[in-house]
Order: sequence, then structure tokens, then C-alpha cells
Amino acid sequence: MSLAQFQLAQKYAELQAQFLDRHTHPIDQGVTPLIQRNGQTLINFSSNDYLGLAGHSALKDAAIDYLKIHGIGAGAAHLVTGHQAIHEQLEQRLAQVTGYPKAMLFSTGYMANLGVIDALMGHLSDSRDGIVYQDRLNHASLLDGARLAGAKLRRYPHLDVGQLNEWLRQDSTTQKLIVTDQIFSMDGSEVPLHDLIKTAEQHQAALMIDDAHGFGLRHFSNSPLPRVDIYMATLGKAIGTFGAFVAGSELLINYLTSRARTFIFTTATPPLIAASTLAALDVIEQEPWRQVKLQQHIDRLRTALTEQGWQLLPSQSAIQPIIVGSAENALALSKKLLEQGLLVSAIRPPTVPRGTSRLRITLSAAHSDEMVEQLIKALMVHQPLFRQ
Ligand SMILES: Cc1ncc(COP(=O)(O)O)c(C=O)c1O
Repeated sequence: MSLAQFQLAQKYAELQAQFLDRHTHPIDQGVTPLIQRNGQTLINFSSNDYLGLAGHSALKDAAIDYLKIHGIGAGAAHLVTGHQAIHEQLEQRLAQVTGYPKAMLFSTGYMANLGVIDALMGHLSDSRDGIVYQDRLNHASLLDGARLAGAKLRRYPHLDVGQLNEWLRQDSTTQKLIVTDQIFSMDGSEVPLHDLIKTAEQHQAALMIDDAHGFGLRHFSNSPLPRVDIYMATLGKAIGTFGAFVAGSELLINYLTSRARTFIFTTATPPLIAASTLAALDVIEQEPWRQVKLQQHIDRLRTALTEQGWQLLPSQSAIQPIIVGSAENALALSKKLLEQGLLVSAIRPPTVPRGTSRLRITLSAAHSDEMVEQLIKALMVHQPLFRQ
């Protein structure tokens, strides 16, 4: 028995030399806006808890109440005995809030993306000649979905619908699947959805959207999403809980239920999470101020950082990256902010392309105006050393 054949020591030393080794940093308590770590209280500008729901009392109470009735684990996969009435109720609610005929839960967003793409384009689907078209900046789970399926993958330049159109026109296969993030996780940019829908229709391609960073941030009933063939979103970000779902036609969901291996061969999420997610959907409807507050923070931060001369990306979302170039610079700036009680993650390759390492600020409705001002002031001090 030996791991020596993989030359891990040499590979890991190379990662360290390039500042690309990664580590977990245990948090003692808290999510957003404040956490405690190593005895230090930090303002968290690195969570995806965009509406500040992860610590909301209604979500906690729902989980506790359900825990008392049911216990913790689902006990089995959905297709065996793990699918509880509360999972069913949540699926129906998710179909209703997204406006799709049917929805199904997956244990994580990563698994949803693997499962959907594999079920549609993998060897079980008889789509050997199919092509998956993906934005170059798509989330790793979408790319891995195409890899797992063994499908031919064409990655178009970020948001370049023109290039996508060209490829769709040239390629003669009849099975074409376009897959894209709705809001890109490391840039905060948003896909031109109407153009993509038009493109997909023109070329009779299917369109799958991953709305991990958008779901819950638009008011459901006021601004429904435009219809796509496959709508996927996660529940661990703005919704504040855990898991993911896919929504679409009844036929799509029935097919995935029988064919998505990451749904079939895994334990269902603890039902108390479903109870908490239902509570989160109620809170979003009852407390619209959360979306308004988040938007105010986004506007304020962008205005201030633009005035300070930072290189921002054209993001209107809760994700506001500052490009600082090298991985070393990104780590150094993150460390300086940490010393001032501000937690902002440095994002480095391979998560983002080389030379575009960045500080990824994420805003939340749970941040107070004062917290956002504190971050702005701290960045003003460091700007001359780190701007691009
Ligand atoms: C765009 C996108 N899709 C999918 C995922 C995976 O979701 P999950 O964390 O539920 O696995 C993430 C992030 O985690 C993401 O940012």
C-alpha cells in the first residue's frame, strides 16, 4: 500500500510556493454579520447569507420544532423511505414560488448540477453526440457535471452570446444543452438571460440556469424569472439553510427522479432542514426590507470604492469583488483587513484565472450601515498599496 506514486509531497510544496495551499479556519460561533474566531470578533463579509436568514429565529424555531417531532436524520434516500411529507411540501412550495410545474430537492447544489447534466447527457441517456455549452466562468459543479457525463464540452468566453450562437449554428448535433450560472459566483456578473433564451430557441437547444446566487433575492411574486428548460437553485445562500432544488416541467422532474444518480444514491437531507427552508420562504415574503437593505449596501459600497479608485467588476449583485492581481497580494490585503476585525476572503487560482486574484466582498441584509462604512474606511487606507 502506498501513496508515494502520487508524489503528494512535491505537488503540495509546489502549491505552497505559489500561495495556492488552502486551509480551513474553524469558527467558534456565528454566521452573519458577526462571527467569533480564535477569540476575535469579526464582521463577516465572506458569507453567502445574503439576506441574513441563517441565524433568523423563525428558521431556528422551525428546525427545533421539527427536530422534536421527527429527530435528525432522514434515515434513507428519497426513493427508499427518506422522503418525508415535509420534503414533499417544500418541493410543492418551491414549484409555486418559481412558477414551474414541478420541483425536486437535491442534497446539495453540487450534486444537483452533477445529477442533472449526467442524467441528460451521460451514458445512461443515449446522448453520445450531444454537446454541452458552458460559460467559461461557470461554477465548478457545472463543469464537473459535463465531465462526469463524458459529454463534449464547449466553453464560450464569459457572457459571449455571439460566440455561443456561432457554435450552435455550426454544430450539427441535435442534442444541445446550454448551461450557465445566472449570477457568477466569483465575479458577481449576471447573464443576459433574455438573449440566451432567444438563442436557445433559435437553435432548438435546451437551457439550464444555475441561480445559486440569485434565488430569494428577487421578490417572488413581483418579478418572476423568465422561463427556462431547467431551473436550478441552492438553498444554502440567500435562503440561509442547506441543499438545492431543480424546477421544470413535470416530465423533466419525473425523468430526473428516475435517472439523476446524485438524487437516487444518497441519503435525503434531514427533514428539519426542509422545515427551516419553508420558514425562510415565509420570512422572505413577510420581510421585504431585507432585499431593500441589501440593495442599499450594494449601491453604497460600489459608489465609495469607485471613488477610492479600486478596480471593481460590473456587478450589481451582493458579490462585489476587488481585483488585486497576484494571489500573494490578495492574501496580504485579506490579512490586513482581518487585523481590523473584517473578514473578507481572498480568492485565488484555480478558483479564478491567474493574475485576477481578488478580494471577494459579499454583502448581506444583516450588515448594519455602520459595518459597511467600517469596511469602506479600512479599504481607503489600503488602496494606495493594493490597487491594480
Ligand atoms: C453557482 C453555484 N452553483 C452551485 C453551487 C454548489 O451549491 P452547494 O453549496 O449547495 O453544493 C455553488 C456554491 O456553493 C455555486 O456558487
